[in-house]
Parts: sequence; structure tokens; C-alpha cells
Amino acid sequence: MPKREVDPDDGLQVDVVGPWATEKHERLRKYIDAYRSARAMFLPPKGTGGAAYIDLFSGPGRSMRDDTGQIIDGSPLVAYREALRSGTRFSDSHFNDIDLTNVDALKKRIAGLGGSANFYNEGAETAVDRVVYALNPAGLHFAFLDPYNLENLPFSIIEKLARLPRMDMLIHVSVFDLQRNLRRYLQDGRILDAFMPGWQSAIDPHRSDHAIRTDLLHHWLGLIRALGTTPADGIELVSATRGQRLYWLVFVSAHALGRKLWNDIRNVNVQDRLL
Ligand SMILES: C[S@@+](CC[C@H](N)C(=O)[O-])C[C@H]1O[C@@H](n2cnc3c(N)ncnc32)[C@H](O)[C@@H]1O
Repeated sequence: MPKREVDPDDGLQVDVVGPWATEKHERLRKYIDAYRSARAMFLPPKGTGGAAYIDLFSGPGRSMRDDTGQIIDGSPLVAYREALRSGTRFSDSHFNDIDLTNVDALKKRIAGLGGSANFYNEGAETAVDRVVYALNPAGLHFAFLDPYNLENLPFSIIEKLARLPRMDMLIHVSVFDLQRNLRRYLQDGRILDAFMPGWQSAIDPHRSDHAIRTDLLHHWLGLIRALGTTPADGIELVSATRGQRLYWLVFVSAHALGRKLWNDIRNVNVQDRLL
């Protein structure tokens, strides 16, 4: 369980996060800013399909950095504020978290900003069905998928989202547990079966752990690419501060702009923003 603290400003709970969260949010900001013109094509007066923001692992909306104690926005508030700042808001937002106290805190925070959204409190695996049902298939939508670990992100979630013709996704998943427990995961394949069906055919168990992890990442990317024609790219990230936290970062985009933006997103430099 993540550590919990309270934001002295609003008295609501925050997650305690590593400094890494700031980079993650910078990627989210970059996407939302870079896609403002594309989004506008689907919003009145230019279009009617809509442009939704979807956050299936939303958290409570605010977090405390464990290194500085600084309170920072969580992904839902980052997205809300950046869309506002870009001058092109999302037509609708869908926030889900399995933890009810997170959902309640987020509701209050979004309302406190004068915003409104659709809130869900269930496993992402089932919430995705309700969200997809609510979306206009003619729109340009964006899903930020940020589970703690691969167990929380069965492939069916990505598959269902990708059925919408223009669904961009930024997926940021911690695979630290895969590094620590790789051999156990390979032996009891249930988590890998759900996260990346068909993984057995992609690996040679006699290779090194690092090589197997790389093969697994490529298999997962292959599964995502096979869902459609959208460009998808991904990398493994190692936290710069502690050197051991491992994340897989994947970007799926329905636009030519996506390829260009991918370089910005993967090489995000938080220092730039602080200057
Ligand atoms: C990494 S945190 C999200 C942080 C948030 N995206 C941010 O950047 O501020 C992951 C969240 O997923 C939630 N969670 C865990 N398992 C889940 C599941 N199966 N379905 C939906 N949410 C889940 C946790 O309660 C937690 O708030």
C-alpha cells in the first residue's frame, strides 16, 4: 500500500510519491499541450466528435514528494490545468480508481477547480467498459494509463481502448516487480498471461534476466502494434535518482504528429521547465 499523507491546503489525502512522478507528469503535460490543435478539430466550432481525457488509475489528484515534502498535482489535475492553459479543454473526463477515498478526494479537488468529470470506483478492467461505452467513436480521445504494476493492467484494457479509431495512449507502468520477481513470474505465468498473452513464445528462459525483460517488452509492444495501424513505440526507463526503479513507457498515437512528439516525451527534461 502507498503511504498516505494529507495536503494542508485542502485537508484531503495525498499519495506519497518519488521524484520520478514529476517527469511522468511532464510527459502528460507535453502531450496535452502538443495536441491542442489536433484536439480542437474535434471540438466545437470545428468538430463534434469530442476529445475525452481518460485516467483509469487516477489516484487522489494530489501527491507529496517523498524527497522534498512538496505537494504536487497528480495526473488528473495536471491534465485538467494543462488543457485549460492550452486553451483547448477536453470535452469530457473519465477518472477511475479502485480506492474510494482517492475517488472522493479527487471529486472534491476537481469541483474545487470549477471542473466536472465522470468518476468511477472499480477495477480498471471493468471500468474500461463503462468508459468506452460513454465515448463518441468519432472523437479523438486520450488515455493515460498509470498502474502501480503490470498485474493491474491486463492487456484487455488496452485492447478495448484501441477499438476506438482515434485513441491515443500514454502508458507508464512500473515493472520493478518484474525485475525482482522475474523467475517467479515466469514459473507461475498467470500475471504475464493477463498482461501480455502469448509471452512464452517470445522468450528463451536460458537467457539473462535483462535479456528476457527486453524480449518481454518487445513482445508487449508487438501486441499493442498488432491492435491497429497507429504508431506505437516504447522504452524501458530507469529512475535517474535511485537507479533501480524500472518503468515501461509506451506511447500510442493516431497522428503523424505522434512520431515527432514521442522523442520529446521519452526524453523529457524536467529541468527545462524549472528554468
Ligand atoms: C501510480 S498510482 C496513480 C497515480 C496518478 N496517475 C498520478 O499520476 O497522480 C496508481 C493508482 O491505481 C490505483 N489502483 C490500483 N489497482 C487498481 C485497479 N486494479 N484498477 C484501478 N485502479 C487501481 C491505486 O489506488 C492508485 O491510486
